[in-house]
Amino acid sequence: MGFSESDIGEQRGRVVVVTGANSGIGFETARVLAERGATVVMACRNPDKGEAAAAQIRALAPAEGEVALLPLDLADLASVAGFARAVRERFDRLDLLINNAGVMMPKRRGETADGFELQLGTNHLGHFALTGALLELVRRTPGARVVTVSSLAHRMGHIDFEDLQWTRSYKRMPAYGQSKLANLLFARELGRRLAAAGADTISVAAHPGYTATNLQNTVTAFKLFNPVVGQSAARGALPTLFAAVSPGLQSGDYFGPGGPFELRGRPRPAKVSQRAQDEAVAARLWAVSEELTGVRYELAASSPPATTTG
Ligand SMILES: NC(=O)c1ccc[n+]([C@@H]2O[C@H](COP(=O)([O-])OP(=O)(O)OC[C@H]3O[C@@H](n4cnc5c(N)ncnc54)[C@H](OP(=O)(O)O)[C@@H]3O)[C@@H](O)[C@H]2O)c1
Repeated sequence: MGFSESDIGEQRGRVVVVTGANSGIGFETARVLAERGATVVMACRNPDKGEAAAAQIRALAPAEGEVALLPLDLADLASVAGFARAVRERFDRLDLLINNAGVMMPKRRGETADGFELQLGTNHLGHFALTGALLELVRRTPGARVVTVSSLAHRMGHIDFEDLQWTRSYKRMPAYGQSKLANLLFARELGRRLAAAGADTISVAAHPGYTATNLQNTVTAFKLFNPVVGQSAARGALPTLFAAVSPGLQSGDYFGPGGPFELRGRPRPAKVSQRAQDEAVAARLWAVSEELTGVRYELAASSPPATTTG
């Protein structure tokens, strides 16, 4: 049968942050962890949508852990810093940081408040800055994990260090692919650095295959496919939940749906593309991300400085 929601044990006493928790996979992830008694911090950019989703989860998990809503706009580094500060002030532990929020393929090139291309800025750089700002709290928590949500689309991704922000010519699909490849490179590089630092924290990744959510609203063809190909958001959240709670995982592990082409089904180890295994590119992306965000991690580098381009 494989992993299902009912395999997820008690989470009471644990504190969890889920980015983009008001919708789709993030909502289902937050719901399940709240139902198991975790204190769930829903990190949302839109207060009205966030409040409505939090109320829904509180109604589904009434007697369980606290469901808190804190504002986070990943497309604004000041908001990321403010959110991390609020979490550090309010909680003395962070068992799970779930880097889930994302945007996909806006028709026109957009920019974050800090001038990054919208998909790289939101999906990767925002989460890079967030994780850096919360890592000390995570590392202080025994058995904590960082879970980063990537995509099948990472396989079409390529990190173009010559034009990371798509200023020359914007192509929405490769730009999304680059951002989701960045997610997986980041998750694996973070894992190597945590291991090199002797940390007990691990960094793992997941993808939801094809899951019908609001993510597809930007692409008409995908929206039309949703009822045919898309699995439910509750199903799509299972690889994330598996990565978050299964015992015996190691940094760098990556999970996705186990059905044909990893599009749907129960979680199992997912295919990592060759480019996502490139440690030189991962180390270079890390250095560039520190430079761009101004967030520096105090962890040992696991690879020598990269010399390759692209
Ligand atoms: N659905 C799929 O088939 C699929 C496939 C591969 C990977 N993924 C990945 O799964 C993750 C979740 O996506 P989903 O399918 O659940 O889509 P979704 O329903 O559209 O949810 C995305 C969430 O991210 C939030 N978000 C977007 N920009 C943000 C920002 N600047 N700051 C904070 N939050 C922001 C959204 O907030 P608003 O509601 O305010 O917009 C929403 O809560 C994404 O990383 C996506 O790339 C999804």
